[in-house]
Amino acid sequence: MNKKIRFTNLVAALACLYGHSALANEGALLEEARTLPAKMVPRLLEVLNEEIAKGGHAQAISVCREKAPQMAKGLSAQTGWQIRRVSLKNRNPLAVPDAWERAVLENFERRLAAGENPANIDHGEVVEVDGKKIFRYMKALPTQTLCLQCHGPTHQLAPGVADKLKELYPDDKATGYGTGQIRGAITAQKPL
Ligand code: HEC
Repeated sequence: MNKKIRFTNLVAALACLYGHSALANEGALLEEARTLPAKMVPRLLEVLNEEIAKGGHAQAISVCREKAPQMAKGLSAQTGWQIRRVSLKNRNPLAVPDAWERAVLENFERRLAAGENPANIDHGEVVEVDGKKIFRYMKALPTQTLCLQCHGPTHQLAPGVADKLKELYPDDKATGYGTGQIRGAITAQKPL
């Protein structure tokens, strides 16, 4: 009887300890994931603005097409997080969200509709994939005026952009946006 109680207590204590450390770990991973977008987005906007000023929007398409994936790759190599961009209305045919990312993006849309500032919308959690635990994180990328030259309604796109997009992305879904919407998200994951 006594032994049984002690054993039960031990199990409870272990569960408690394990539970707390897993939670602490999850919190630390979220903190770490939240530092990632700032290591990529401001630099990307800077290069985008520079290129638009130099050669116009049609030329700046290469920044979104080549620089953004390059930066994501570089940051992945540097940090150990696997990073890419996805969207519910993707332009790059590879930027299709998987099931978890789609659910998170749909939830981002609900949070935006409920009045949350899109610049602050993100989400991270531990998920299990094929029996392995990974931490997954997503951060919304809101549209601002700058984005509409290449992602706005077709008739508002900058000169030359529509033609270039048609040529490079025949299945483009990423036009028709206004400001303050969610264009897509940065998505990052790391094995535990
Ligand atoms: C000069 C044109 C241009 C501007 C300005 C621009 N984009 Fe893009 N964007 C593109 C192109 C081209 C792609 C496809 C890139 C690729 O092939 O991976 C793209 C892709 C993306 C993607 C990846 C998902 C997808 O649909 O393929 C996101 C997210 C995105 N843009 C967000 C933004 C945001 C937010 C802004 C404004 C801050 C912005 N873009 C401004 C041209 C532009």
